[in-house]
Amino acid sequence: MKDFTFCAPTRAIFGRDTELTVGRELKAAGATRVLMQYGGGSIKKSGLYDRVVGAIRAEGIELYELGGVQPNPHLSLVHTAIDLVREKGIDFLLAVGGGSVIDSTKATAVGACYDGDVWDFYCGKATPEKSLPVAVILTIPAAGSEGSNSSVITKEDGWIKRGLGCELYRPVFAIYNPELTYSLPAYQTAAGASDIMAHIMERYFTNEPDVDMTDRLCESVLKTIIKQAPVAVKDPTNYAARAEMMWASTVAHNDFLSCFRVGDWSSHQLSHELSALYDSTHGAALAVAFPAWMTYVYQHDVTRFARFAVEVMGCEMDFFHPENTALAGIAALRSFFNSIGMPTTLSELGVPDDQLPLLAAKVKRGPDGTTGQFVKLTEEDCLKIYQLMR
Ligand code: NZQ
Ligand code: ZN
Repeated sequence: MKDFTFCAPTRAIFGRDTELTVGRELKAAGATRVLMQYGGGSIKKSGLYDRVVGAIRAEGIELYELGGVQPNPHLSLVHTAIDLVREKGIDFLLAVGGGSVIDSTKATAVGACYDGDVWDFYCGKATPEKSLPVAVILTIPAAGSEGSNSSVITKEDGWIKRGLGCELYRPVFAIYNPELTYSLPAYQTAAGASDIMAHIMERYFTNEPDVDMTDRLCESVLKTIIKQAPVAVKDPTNYAARAEMMWASTVAHNDFLSCFRVGDWSSHQLSHELSALYDSTHGAALAVAFPAWMTYVYQHDVTRFARFAVEVMGCEMDFFHPENTALAGIAALRSFFNSIGMPTTLSELGVPDDQLPLLAAKVKRGPDGTTGQFVKLTEEDCLKIYQLMR
């Protein structure tokens, strides 16, 4: 059992019409000049943009905006945002969107308080010491960035995608109205579900003993997504399914499920390279990477993989051949991803076979040359896992 410090300070404001409280919430949090970032236009199409702008202006807050944050957000737009913050004397940042918008906003928050290039934080050259406050209106349950200590940015020069863990920019508050997610395309709904599941599974596959309570919590949130994601894909305006997915997004990644445990995270590193080079949707890349990783490492702890198969995927335990149960669980996970419209092979992501050595070489590894905690993977291991994704 690992010791831990847990602090998830983000105030969650959940329910219908809650976006209309954003002006009041910002004012109560001390905001006077706000920069709002958003993505490629979904918030304008849905009418959310007008409601948010109205609610903020009604409180007499000065509002600036920067749209155009792309999925797998780019460093260059973060630089633009930082310039705007400095020019306008912004004192509060608001993200209206999903993980990409939130991560771009978080990067802006620490970058604006730093004299050097914000990329220094992402490549490990410097550590943030100060941040502007960040708030969120969430439009897609997926990355969990609305409650996490993390931000993931892609540097276009070399197409390098890297994450930064930093407690300073956990959002002050996050607003969730499940109705805002009704407009999500089925693919994005499913990719979000895959990402939420991946965040839990990265934590679930641990070498720490005696983690029964968080095992059970992980299993129950995973089962919730397995139940609700197909409902949301088929019936996009099902409030209960959308609501459960939205809260699961946060619970999966605000570290509540990390207590006592050491997570693995190599499937995320493998999938980041797919997104960096092929612009794959993050959750779709994980639907390809995770089952391949599982197939490569399950023999490290057959009992844990068999438990996953039984408790999460509903497989029958084969007490004489637990390996068969473990493998059945991996197959069931792959079928689940397929059933909600996710890819499970590299060819579906448009990744040619001859690129696998390059991908394996680019995977972020620690000073010992490995990635992952459950099983430490070398570059050669990464290549073999990419080969299993074909
Ligand atoms: O840009 P717009 O037009 O808004 O469209 C977006 C985008 O195309 C669309 N969308 C979002 N809400 C919508 C909507 N379309 C219709 N109706 C709505 N209500 O969905 C698309 C994807 O948006 P994006 O923000 O990219 O999705 P997601 O939340 O999955 O974020 C992915 C990014 O988060 C990073 C990923 O690596 C990726 O870059 N992650 C961040 C983490 C963190 N900060 O803690 C952890 C994760 O593991 C992940 O790495
Ligand atoms: Zn993720």
